Amino acid sequence: MKPLKVTSNFEVYDSVEELPQAIQNLMKTAVEARDKAYAPYSQFKVGAALSLNNNEVVTGSNQENASYPSGLCAERTAIYYAGAAFPEAQIQNIAISAKSMKHTVEAPVPPCGACRQALVEYEVKQETDIAVYFMGETGKVMKANSIKDLLPLIFENSVL
Ligand code: THU
Repeated sequence: MKPLKVTSNFEVYDSVEELPQAIQNLMKTAVEARDKAYAPYSQFKVGAALSLNNNEVVTGSNQENASYPSGLCAERTAIYYAGAAFPEAQIQNIAISAKSMKHTVEAPVPPCGACRQALVEYEVKQETDIAVYFMGETGKVMKANSIKDLLPLIFENSVL
């Protein structure tokens, strides 16, 4: 037996104002997308904004359904939209913001496990890393330079 230690790196910013202006703008776009979420069941709204290397910005928000599993998270709504609309473009950054209609979300909200798997597919496809910035409604912002920091030991197409 050999132990295997897996390390992930993150940066923590005290507030969104500490980020470069372009990322602040992307987070603002994520917040605008968040406010368009359709989340009558969870009362938890998430917005995502992706910047692409063709200067396009693509957004998504969570879309819920009376049949609960049929809903989709903001991150997957956004990345599938990017893949469908701009299949040749590379995704450079993702900004994510989450807000509860019941309480103030002050801690950064990372993408769920299923979204991490969906996101890493595009990192593998485009062969360049995607930076992820995530926050709650207010407070600290966390950054990962790659989806792989959020999802070590990825399942990828090379095993198929
Ligand atoms: N949600 C997201 O949009 N992204 C995540 O990464 C986690 C959860 C949504 C799904 C559901 O509509 C609501 O938040 C509560 O789970």
